[in-house]
Amino acid sequence: MTSQPSAVRPFGPQADLLSTTQFDLPTVLALFDLADGLRPLGRAELTCDVLQGAVLSSLFFEPSTRTRLSFESAWARLGGTVLTTTGFTFSSMAKGESIHDTARVISGYSDVIVMRHPDKGSVAELADASLVPVVNGGDGAGEHPTQALLDVYTLTRELGARGRAVEGATVAIIGDLRYGRTVHSLIDLLRLWKGIRFRLYSPSSLELPREFFDRDDAHRLLVCDSVQDALKGADAVYATRVQRERITDEKVAQAIEASVLLDKRMVQEWASDDLIVMHPLPRDSRPGSFDLMPDVDDLPGLAIFHQTDNGLMVRMAIFCTILGLDLATVLAHARRPVWNSGKPLVRPGLHSAGRQAQDW
Ligand code: NCD
Repeated sequence: MTSQPSAVRPFGPQADLLSTTQFDLPTVLALFDLADGLRPLGRAELTCDVLQGAVLSSLFFEPSTRTRLSFESAWARLGGTVLTTTGFTFSSMAKGESIHDTARVISGYSDVIVMRHPDKGSVAELADASLVPVVNGGDGAGEHPTQALLDVYTLTRELGARGRAVEGATVAIIGDLRYGRTVHSLIDLLRLWKGIRFRLYSPSSLELPREFFDRDDAHRLLVCDSVQDALKGADAVYATRVQRERITDEKVAQAIEASVLLDKRMVQEWASDDLIVMHPLPRDSRPGSFDLMPDVDDLPGLAIFHQTDNGLMVRMAIFCTILGLDLATVLAHARRPVWNSGKPLVRPGLHSAGRQAQDW
């Protein structure tokens, strides 16, 4: 969209969203307030036509469930229309079309484009050729900025519900820190808060990339030699799946010896019972997967489905910001849906799961 590298442009109206480094703290907090205000739309207590006539193109060239569907649901809940294509097979990229040409073509049909692609930097390349704003839905092992926004939104609300704040908090980040793009975006976003500390654990082949330790606030990153050590004094743990699809070296994959990354017993023995447990999902539930185990699901601090629910609100807020819509304008276009006359269609536990943290 600009002659400058798009990633350095601050986030706001008409901007691309490519990286969490585009944010300052006031912009993040304003986005979170907007997400709070949009919650009745996310719960379908209100329906809205503010995006009537607006078109989102959703291009996903890697597997996705929650990211694609929550982006599309967010646009639809605001009253817009979604065009979607998944995988290379059914797109002209299978015929050798470049990202440049794809961007130029699709921006002629859309008002915003969301793309996920296996190559780091590919979404920025699309943005450079696009005539409309582009949102990064994950670029290889690079970044996943909207996931980080919903993760930090959830963390602020979970901590807030326990009378704590992100400022000064300790977050354990465990699993695949090398290829996990959500981790890269999360660390860069949380750095905006004073006093935040990270305790990192990964198998030695999956360590956080060197560049994170070259920054002037690298003293906030503490590399730990076990999950137990990483959990010491942590307010929250953020676990990640091994990104096997990005590991080309079989030796690296084999070097992961343990079969369990984090389970209920570890949380209860090594951390506070109320530890906030986060994960971008999907978790790999196959035997020996080295991931977050399902037995954590009855822990009081489980926040993984709060994250997925919150993704809808945060992505609505992202679209509203890009399109220059404030909350008052959106709500002026909202009304009670005729198909939802007051009786909740959503079963209890979905949008208000667990403790009261969801009911801000
Ligand atoms: C993540 C991703 O795609 O990077 N998933 C997601 O978008 N919620 C994490 C992962 O796939 O492990």
